[in-house]
Amino acid sequence: MAKSKTVYFCNQCGAESSKWAGKCNACGEWNTLREEVVVVKNSPAGWVKTHPSDRSVTQKINEIASNNTQRMIMPDTELNLVLGGGLVPGSLVLLGGEPGIGKSTLLLQVALKLNEQVMYVSGEESAEQVKLRAERIGIDNERCDVLTETRIEAILQILQEQKPAIVVVDSVQTLFSEMLEATPGSVSQIRECTGKLLRFAKENNVSVFLIGHITKDGSIAGPKILEHMVDTVLQFEGDRNYHFRILRTLKNRFGGTHEMGIYEMTGTGLAAVQNPSQIFLAERDEEISGIAIAAAMEGVRPILLETQSLVSTAVYGTPQRSSTGFDLRRLNMLLAVLEKRCGFRLGAQDVFINLAGGIRIEDPALDLAIATAIMSSYQGVVAPSKTVFAGEVGLSGEIRAVQRVEQRITEAEKLGFEEIVISKYNKVQIGSSKIKIHRFGRVDEMFSWLFG
Ligand code: TYD
Ligand code: MG
Repeated sequence: MAKSKTVYFCNQCGAESSKWAGKCNACGEWNTLREEVVVVKNSPAGWVKTHPSDRSVTQKINEIASNNTQRMIMPDTELNLVLGGGLVPGSLVLLGGEPGIGKSTLLLQVALKLNEQVMYVSGEESAEQVKLRAERIGIDNERCDVLTETRIEAILQILQEQKPAIVVVDSVQTLFSEMLEATPGSVSQIRECTGKLLRFAKENNVSVFLIGHITKDGSIAGPKILEHMVDTVLQFEGDRNYHFRILRTLKNRFGGTHEMGIYEMTGTGLAAVQNPSQIFLAERDEEISGIAIAAAMEGVRPILLETQSLVSTAVYGTPQRSSTGFDLRRLNMLLAVLEKRCGFRLGAQDVFINLAGGIRIEDPALDLAIATAIMSSYQGVVAPSKTVFAGEVGLSGEIRAVQRVEQRITEAEKLGFEEIVISKYNKVQIGSSKIKIHRFGRVDEMFSWLFG
């Protein structure tokens, strides 16, 4: 006999509690417990005796066959890259992103280009809407089936019958199980439906892509537990005002998490961007102050991008510091270094930083370009436009070595830059490079070379 009970779930960590409390006992977050009704099956509490034929078996680790997972190559270079070299069969991949960023477009496009049987489960849009999008993308594929359904049991039944190679679920927040009374999108529903899909994926060796919404603070809506359950978490992001979209790996059981895919949203779907550096370098005729080009890395790919800064005397008491695409704490640290170690009076200045193209990058090698852009704006002197910077700035004002410096140098050379500034501690093993390499040990030394 099944009976229903009321429990409280934390929408941060997914912890279950029988009583409401202001603070979650498991993760310590405040005001995150939500009431949900669940139906539980009556099972004897504690130890359950299993029938002898129903027993689990253990295996010796050296005897387990590792069928050297053959990855499925996706018809999308960027997606292969972020997945760590293709899709592992039987894996559960969560794709998160803000509404309208292009999650449905990306996965429908992949589904349409695949040579395998795909089931596109749409809980958000009607079949006609999915068709309209497919028409926009401009590909037709008889191997792609559309199912508009949100009941997980019904979905699983169809999947069991049709056994597609890949399933796309758009989105996990619309799914619900009839076993639970909670509303779709609630912690218990998300947990239950994802758990069922996970079982299906592993038992049948079918890969499942789940689309997930993102809350205002940028995390995937629903419990953190969702991210723990899946094998891979991808995040699709971008600035609404630009056409570029970035696909990042946040978690990957089958590969690294430093990869990044870059797309451009066109009138006919998403197109992979082959040469990212060209996007992030703005074209201009005249030289202006406050700009420096950084040779950054995203994953294994070098990206040259323009860092922009504006320094102006603060009108109000407390100077403003604002940054788009660059870590604000890192900016404050750089300003303190410039003030204390190089003697520039930046304490009474407003400082604004922007990375061109709406990109967000976490690479310490950006420091040198940011510091140069700040000084260029502060002193009103143009930094040389054919020079690229790659160096981390330490607390004492030293320029520290960065990783993969050869790749950065090669990329800068390829794009026609004439000079690159790096740390004197970076060992470079490039035989013949046309680009001139300047090496400095301290930021102030570099400034006196740059600005005199
Ligand atoms: P969508 O995939 O619906 O986003 P999500 O699923 O993340 O909510 O993408 C919606 C946006 O993409 C919408 O503003 C229209 C735009 N778009 C294009 O610019 N070109 C296209 O070919 C398609 C299909 C969509
Ligand atoms: Mg969508």
